[in-house]
Amino acid sequence: MFKVGIIGVGNMGEAILNGIIKNSDIKPEEIIVSDINQERIDYIVNKYGVAGTDNNERLVKLSEIIFLAVKPKDFENTVNPIKDKFEGKILISVMAGIKIEKIKSILSKAFIVRIMPNTPALIGESATGISFDKSFPANKKEEIINLINTFGKSFLIDENLMDAFTGLAGSGPAYIFTIIDAFAQAGVKQGFSYNQALEIIVQTIKGSSKMVETLKEHPCVLRDKVSSPSGTTIYGLHQLEKGKIRDIIINTVEESTQRSKELSN
Ligand SMILES: NC(=O)c1ccc[n+]([C@@H]2O[C@H](COP(=O)([O-])OP(=O)(O)OC[C@H]3O[C@@H](n4cnc5c(N)ncnc54)[C@H](OP(=O)(O)O)[C@@H]3O)[C@@H](O)[C@H]2O)c1
Repeated sequence: MFKVGIIGVGNMGEAILNGIIKNSDIKPEEIIVSDINQERIDYIVNKYGVAGTDNNERLVKLSEIIFLAVKPKDFENTVNPIKDKFEGKILISVMAGIKIEKIKSILSKAFIVRIMPNTPALIGESATGISFDKSFPANKKEEIINLINTFGKSFLIDENLMDAFTGLAGSGPAYIFTIIDAFAQAGVKQGFSYNQALEIIVQTIKGSSKMVETLKEHPCVLRDKVSSPSGTTIYGLHQLEKGKIRDIIINTVEESTQRSKELSN
């Protein structure tokens, strides 16, 4: 028997695998992966020392906890032929936009968890939304949350908020990457090389995030502490407000949330 099975070891499947191996007591020998692509299985097996198979039925039979990390379009084709084998198994769905109700309509005898990680999972820093099915056994939740925390930090949310989580955190890294690039270009305009400006702004964002996280002060309080009367910061902040930065960010997350709702319906 394997403790964990991962069906579909693409980008997200590998990120999850990497986190579990690095940050839990589960050993590579206790993990099995499957994929439709044999080259991918060989690569993962060689790199991590886990077991591999091209047979999803075998994986499901042999695993206690199963991550399903195929693309949403491949969901039904992947599970339909082996749906009976999921009886009594814990299924953690990574698939964006597929509701627990839909998964349950096919895998009625599995215990279902839906998660929404984001790409920083690749370096163990995901912000991951988690929703448990109502019938999920209460005494198993902590173990699952700990498993998900191996590739980042998790947030237990009502499934109704999963589209909003997608708009805020799932798509979030792309917004932040765009902001980082814009600041780096701003640095270039002021005379830095792009690479130097990039390093400066990355460190600035990292340091500011850590301040919010560790000092537990409201971000506006921290902002006001660096805005001295008639100083450089308040002049810069005025431009951000003139450009309606809040309006833009609120609308960005709203649009993305709406799009997630459209796609999941
Ligand atoms: N990447 C993200 O940032 C992110 C964030 C949140 C959620 N997700 C979710 O994570 C899931 C995986 O995304 P990804 O970016 O990791 O995709 P991906 O790189 O395409 O990985 C999916 C893997 O599953 C394989 N596969 C397809 N059908 C299969 C089957 N029947 N049995 C076994 N393996 C099969 C694919 O092989 P082929 O390539 O040969 O088809 C591929 O290797 C998606 O549902 C996505 O919505 C991703």
